[in-house]
Amino acid sequence: MSKKHPPEFYFEQVSTLTNLPTLPAIATEVLQIVRQDRLSVNQMYPLIEKDPPLAMKVLKIANSAYYGLKEKVESLRHAIVIIGMQELSHLVIGFSVIKAFRDGGGDHHKQWKNYKEHTDRWRQFWEHSSACAHIAELLNRKLRISISSSPYSLGLLHDIGKLTLYKIDPGNYFDALELAHIEQCDVALAEEEVLGVNHAQVGMWLAQKWQLPEAIVNAVGFHHHPSKVEDEQFRVSTSLIQLADIVTNLRLYQFGTEFFKTIPPEEEGWGIISSTYSGLESLDFEYFVMNIEEDIVLVRELAQMIEA
Ligand SMILES: [Fe+2]
Ligand SMILES: [Fe+2]
Repeated sequence: MSKKHPPEFYFEQVSTLTNLPTLPAIATEVLQIVRQDRLSVNQMYPLIEKDPPLAMKVLKIANSAYYGLKEKVESLRHAIVIIGMQELSHLVIGFSVIKAFRDGGGDHHKQWKNYKEHTDRWRQFWEHSSACAHIAELLNRKLRISISSSPYSLGLLHDIGKLTLYKIDPGNYFDALELAHIEQCDVALAEEEVLGVNHAQVGMWLAQKWQLPEAIVNAVGFHHHPSKVEDEQFRVSTSLIQLADIVTNLRLYQFGTEFFKTIPPEEEGWGIISSTYSGLESLDFEYFVMNIEEDIVLVRELAQMIEA
């Protein structure tokens, strides 16, 4: 049994970034450009160009089905134009945050005897995040919701609180995952039971500490309760992530722990989106979910890509 901590412990660890990565330099630079209202191809291109793995990811996204282009996008400059500045800035933040988590912070658990079990569990986590990103992007395009962020990056990052808790307190976090598994209950409830805090809360602390864009902060903090988001535009984008998350868990990747018992129309996010966007009510949801299963290969590919 690992030593128990009070909830303040987790807040302190996030505030001091103990065992947690710092925000990667490229994300900091992008945030600066956004804040100074200088988003342009000329500003973004050199930043991405000097990071070849990131440039590859940007190209892959521009060539994905999301943009439905007939011809292959070969140049980074073209890819940037296709994706658009606002979305691109959030994508760069999303990819670099994921990479930071993979590369650094809290590696003390590597010596553990059940390290392999942990890595397998986290592989499922990347698949869950990647699937949720993909579904959020598809759903957004289907419903033609205009949100000032990248649905893909919101989906990618929505559960970073889980990684955060794991990096801070691996032993207890693993216990929380086990509890959710045994009880077949919502992982957030199991986290509260074992740790006294949940991943949405802790993820939001980290997103705020890193000063990430509001759309990301809200999606991370409220994807289980989008009605709590104050600003209307972020309430809609957070609702989109709630629905994408549920579809992900219903039919695809559960990360072995999320046992939602509701169907999408019973969720807060459904009501929020359908009150503004009529497309949701008329969407054949079962058909939409069924079609997603055909994308499993693509989801896996993207998951491997974000892990690279
Ligand atoms: Fe979650
Ligand atoms: Fe999730």
